[in-house]
Amino acid sequence: MKFYYSFLSSSLLVSSALATPLTTHRRGRYEARRLSHFNNHQSHPPYKPDTDERAFLNRSNERYTSNWAGAVLTGTGYNFVTAEIIVPTPKPPSRGPSTDEYCASAWVGIDGDTCSSAILQTGIEFCARGNSTSYDAWFEWYPAYSRSFLPSDITISAGDRIKMTVNATSKRSGMAILENISTRQVASHTFKNHFEAPGELCEYNAEWIVEDFVESTFLVPFVDFGQVTFAKAQASRNGTVSGPIGSNLVDIKQNGVVLTSSSFTSDSVIVKHT
Ligand SMILES: *[C@@H]1O[C@H](CO)[C@@H](O)[C@H](O)[C@H]1NC(C)=O
Ligand SMILES: *[C@@H]1O[C@H](CO)[C@@H](O)[C@H](O)[C@H]1NC(C)=O
Ligand SMILES: *[C@@H]1O[C@H](CO)[C@@H](O)[C@H](O)[C@H]1NC(C)=O
Ligand SMILES: *[C@@H]1O[C@H](CO)[C@@H](O)[C@H](O)[C@H]1NC(C)=O
Ligand SMILES: *[C@@H]1O[C@H](CO)[C@@H](O)[C@H](O)[C@H]1NC(C)=O
Repeated sequence: MKFYYSFLSSSLLVSSALATPLTTHRRGRYEARRLSHFNNHQSHPPYKPDTDERAFLNRSNERYTSNWAGAVLTGTGYNFVTAEIIVPTPKPPSRGPSTDEYCASAWVGIDGDTCSSAILQTGIEFCARGNSTSYDAWFEWYPAYSRSFLPSDITISAGDRIKMTVNATSKRSGMAILENISTRQVASHTFKNHFEAPGELCEYNAEWIVEDFVESTFLVPFVDFGQVTFAKAQASRNGTVSGPIGSNLVDIKQNGVVLTSSSFTSDSVIVKHT
């Protein structure tokens, strides 16, 4: 699985593959994700800034990663995580070429930190290039690639209140659910076999994360999302529900620059772009 690490050496290089107009690019990406299990978008475990080493967020010195910002609970028996977010309006960061496409995703998940064999996760992705924005709703059982929900099931716009939930019904099965709180429109996916759930969960981590995800082999240029608040944040350990209190906080640092600021309350996780 060494190829997972190859993105780091070129992580902050601008991709020439993004030269097509945003909408065409998005459509192409969506088609690729719809048609193939093996598309080019992937959420990964956390990595130490500018290295190819895994970060373990339960260690107090692992405050920064190259790709994760937010809060992670560590324990045993975590099989349910949920939160609601207001979909942000992303914009290109003040530094960086205005012709590039910048993206990030916000998701809830189980595992990935102290258990790296699998991550059950769902969330939304938001991108900006110039004045254009685009959104995608997705689910993933790492190490498989992420897959998009159909636009006929759910379409995402700035300002929507979206509830995101993962529910592991076993270490190899579970559900990813996105719900538009305004319309009660629900999109869900049930992972039911080893092809769909290629890694085994440990149920050690519950997390609420804004991620600089991997596209092909590099970290996508990180978008300015303003702020994402995971409200009504809850995790369940075998039926016992808790909020994010006790989480390890993590922020994104790339090339020596800290790009996010994360915090939590008893029932929310707040991630700000700095
Ligand atoms: C953090 O988790 C890793 C992986 O499970 C473990 O090896 C390490 O001992 C843990 N560190 C602390 C400080 O708990
Ligand atoms: C983008 O937004 C700026 C500032 O509002 C505006 O001046 C410009 O015309 C917009 N460009 C396009 C292509 O809409
Ligand atoms: C969610 O609800 C809002 C408000 O009714 C609506 O404008 C939007 O299109 C809906 N989005 C989804 C994802 O269904
Ligand atoms: C998770 O899914 C199972 C199976 O559908 C369901 O019985 C259970 O209530 C769900 N868990 C939660 C916390 O909603
Ligand atoms: C979860 O709770 C049930 C009922 O109390 C218990 O039988 C089971 O062993 C628990 N599972 C874990 C993983 O703790």
